[in-house]
Amino acid sequence: MVIECFQDYESVSSRAAELVCEAISENPGGVFGFATGSTPERLYELLVTHYQRGEISFDRLTTVNLDEYIGLAINHEQSYATFMQHHLFGHVNVQPDSIHFPAAVPDPSVFEQLIQNKGGIDLQILGLGSNGHIGFNEPGSPFDSRTRVVSLAPSTIQDNARFFDSIEDVPHQAVTMGIQTIMEARKILLLACGPAKADAVARCLQGPQTEDVPGSCLQAHSDVTVLLDEAASSGLNK
Ligand code: GLP
Repeated sequence: MVIECFQDYESVSSRAAELVCEAISENPGGVFGFATGSTPERLYELLVTHYQRGEISFDRLTTVNLDEYIGLAINHEQSYATFMQHHLFGHVNVQPDSIHFPAAVPDPSVFEQLIQNKGGIDLQILGLGSNGHIGFNEPGSPFDSRTRVVSLAPSTIQDNARFFDSIEDVPHQAVTMGIQTIMEARKILLLACGPAKADAVARCLQGPQTEDVPGSCLQAHSDVTVLLDEAASSGLNK
């Protein structure tokens, strides 16, 4: 695992953009796994800039997103499909039929099959929940889990309430890639910023590997790069 620490969110995002651009340039027909949440927003803005400058193209890429809420219309302003459209897909030349999200119907395993058929995920971008979740794999998620319907932890509902008018509007279920699905990606890029992530970062990167801390599975992956700002790295033993 390579851990890189930066002074602030902007530097983390620039480095992430550099690594993603490199990966797209090396593998322009690859399968790229995207994440939502506030953390990768600036990364996506920078990728749009690199695209506009003609430095990268998305036209041959296949994209697979980590997760999606259940119970929101696809065009709901807080659906992850809308998020990706707004922050990245709507501004670059990705082919609409190359964009994929997990879905509860007809069957979450369809998404697993799709990933397999495309040859597996080349690069998976991840954020981190304050409780150590990756995707929507909450504490207690089996390390051998695959794409499935899950219930959100109360702390996740609380964390994500800031995006909704009220906490009552936050869905209680989602469909997410499993831990095993994520671990099968050839490369993983994890981003975490801000003091609210410090504890989760320390437990995921330096604590025991346990299903109680979903992100701790990443210690067993052979090609993970972690980008942190100072605040998120503050709980690590240097
Ligand atoms: C959300 C998403 C995760 C994301 C995480 C952190 O619930 N399901 O994929 O990484 O929470 O979000 P943020 O970056 O806004 O802190």
